[in-house]
Amino acid sequence: MKNIKKIIKKVKTPFFIYKKKKIIKNINKYKKKNVKIFYALKANYNKKIIKIIKKRVYGFEVVSIGEIKKLLNLNVKGKKIIFSGVCKKKKEIKFAEKKKIGFISVESYDEFKRVMKKKIKIILKINLNVGIDSIKQITTCKKNNKFGINEIDLLKIIKNVIKHKINIYCLGFHLGSQILDHKPYIKALKKIIKIYKYFRKKKIKINKIINIGGGFGIDYVNGSNINFFKKIYNFFKKFKIIIEPGRSIIGNTCKTISKVEYIKKNKKKRIAILDVGMDCLIRPALYKSIHRIKKINKNKNKKKIYDLVGPICESTDIIRKNIKINLKKGEKIIICDTGAYCMSMRMNYNMRKKPKEVII
Ligand code: LLP
Repeated sequence: MKNIKKIIKKVKTPFFIYKKKKIIKNINKYKKKNVKIFYALKANYNKKIIKIIKKRVYGFEVVSIGEIKKLLNLNVKGKKIIFSGVCKKKKEIKFAEKKKIGFISVESYDEFKRVMKKKIKIILKINLNVGIDSIKQITTCKKNNKFGINEIDLLKIIKNVIKHKINIYCLGFHLGSQILDHKPYIKALKKIIKIYKYFRKKKIKINKIINIGGGFGIDYVNGSNINFFKKIYNFFKKFKIIIEPGRSIIGNTCKTISKVEYIKKNKKKRIAILDVGMDCLIRPALYKSIHRIKKINKNKNKKKIYDLVGPICESTDIIRKNIKINLKKGEKIIICDTGAYCMSMRMNYNMRKKPKEVII
């Protein structure tokens, strides 16, 4: 905290401050025999952070040519990249092949047809219709979601694989994000092992590897450490595993420092206007998600109920609603766990300056 306080005095708000040690600690919890970590770049693609992560994981999971180019420019080898996403255009698939990208996560029959003759290892990402107990907007593996290969497409793919003797690298799934226990993974694993066995029965060449995606959640409410990966790993020792964690590597390693510029009050409401908003902290507006707020300097004033809002010209620009806190105009506060899906989801609306990102 001493360190941070010094920086808080020096750097202009708003800014993001990351702890390198914590990133490394988060990665280390996944380092196990037969587990390959592909960091999901979309969670945070700050150059310095990529460099820290690059040395410690096997590879990266990406969803666009932009993300691929970013990694290639930082000397990440193409063969260590998994290219996912529901809408890979022909041109993009061609580009990926030209750049010798290692893997492509196929999400539909039509996409399969585009890639089946290409020199890229195919991962079939299957929609297993498994629900998760998370924020509704970030569930991805239920029947009606756009993600993953559905049953009808899977059968068509299997037919083609047999007919054209296509090699499939492995099967996979991604259940969604901010998942807080192992149960949905076990449910999904049981389902996918059945599909794997069916492939073997049909004599399809396929590795004994499952890509279980990302989704491992963090504790936004209390900031405690969550680690249920062990339980998944123990269940699953007979297969090699690919994981694609994003949030659980970078989410809790970062704090945003912001200043209370103004306080407005009427008879019913107190509104504190912060100098950081939804342009770089969009999660509360988009998912009603909660980030812990901490004070830097304590004072003994009575706590009052506030809405903490940002500077953007939108009423939805709320960082935290109805929080009991004592605030003074001009003081700086901390918004916690802002490492994942904050700066990477930053938008240019209102053309505000990009906040500084500091790594300690
Ligand atoms: N693999 C695939 C195929 C994915 O779609 C995602 C995330 C990941 C891995 C990484 O998931 P993670 O370990 O970070 O949960 N913007 C939302 C989260 C969207 C996640 C999108 N896909 C949020 O702020 O909560």
